[in-house]
Amino acid sequence: MKMENHSSLRFLLSLAITLGLARVSTAAEAGTPSDSPVSELLFVRRVLPIFREKCVSCHGDDEKKIKSGFDMRTMEGLRKGGDSGEPALAPGKPEQSPLYLAATRTDPDWKAMPPKENDKLTSEQLSAIRQWIAGGAPWPDEARRG
Ligand code: HEC
Repeated sequence: MKMENHSSLRFLLSLAITLGLARVSTAAEAGTPSDSPVSELLFVRRVLPIFREKCVSCHGDDEKKIKSGFDMRTMEGLRKGGDSGEPALAPGKPEQSPLYLAATRTDPDWKAMPPKENDKLTSEQLSAIRQWIAGGAPWPDEARRG
């Protein structure tokens, strides 16, 4: 009995997340970025793990060897960007965010990231980053991450 209750709760939770994400992408299409709890959840569950797995080895973890001076460990680092002098992130606007454009590997202005073709992000990872930026790119602090 207990088990059943548990799994139906989990089902409801995943349903809520799916519906929430659908709302975020609608808002993005309408050009109205919203800094919603759903985007925070997306950041914690999906985007931050991607940064940690695919980016910070060159963009933060080894402070003496940060590539292009671009530190992806904090929101300040993302806003500041690297040697290009441009902010790497335009909250609400994935198509104007170098971080996203570089990861798509198809933008003429930004080198493909991560540099090795073998490490490239999946389309599913790319769309998580895209939705997070479209949703206002919130970066909840440790306390809010729960
Ligand atoms: C193996 C090391 C490595 C990894 C992993 C890596 N990068 Fe980079 N990144 C570089 C190097 C090197 C440059 C400088 C490229 C140049 O301009 O010649 C750079 C530059 C950048 C820039 C341009 C910053 C600026 O303003 O000049 C962005 C944006 C960027 N990387 C995003 C990412 C993202 C997002 C990821 C993860 C999905 C990532 N990188 C993973 C090595 C790496």
